Amino acid sequence: MLNIVKKIIFNFSNNKSLYIGEKLTISEHMIQTAMLAEKKKCSDDLICSSLLHDYGHFILEDPNQLVSDHIDGNHETIGANYLKKYFSNEIIEPILLHVDAKKYLARNKKYFDDLSEASKTSLKLQGGIMNDNEAKQFEQSKNFRSAIELRRFDEGAKKQNIKIKDIKDYKELLISKII
Ligand SMILES: [Fe+2]
Repeated sequence: MLNIVKKIIFNFSNNKSLYIGEKLTISEHMIQTAMLAEKKKCSDDLICSSLLHDYGHFILEDPNQLVSDHIDGNHETIGANYLKKYFSNEIIEPILLHVDAKKYLARNKKYFDDLSEASKTSLKLQGGIMNDNEAKQFEQSKNFRSAIELRRFDEGAKKQNIKIKDIKDYKELLISKII
């Protein structure tokens, strides 16, 4: 098996950190995100982006500490920069844009109100809700739609005690997407 896929599977299996402010692990959260993308019959690329969208949290030393210190760790950039050596831009860009997608969607009051408290806190640290100009610019991004879709799966992927897949179930998909 390719080394990077081995490493991804190792990280998912061994990282037990809770997803910031939530009651499930980062690994469980990312797998749930990918499962929602599968349910919506998204492309393999978007399933892969969904599965790996918070990988930057594995690279950051202590994501929870950063939040309590009111520092934004830029996990989307850290994850995307690390993974771009191995995966195509179609997979990487939605990962890179998933925080901007939240800042964009939060312009809608219902979306904002539905965010978890942890997600509202990180939104502030990430620069807050987009203004009209920022939103217009964001809409021009090549993978704008995928980023928005990923974000919706992301918000829905914080359930506890539901049956979820194992990271090993995604091994073949990951291998097939290595560039
Ligand atoms: Fe997430």
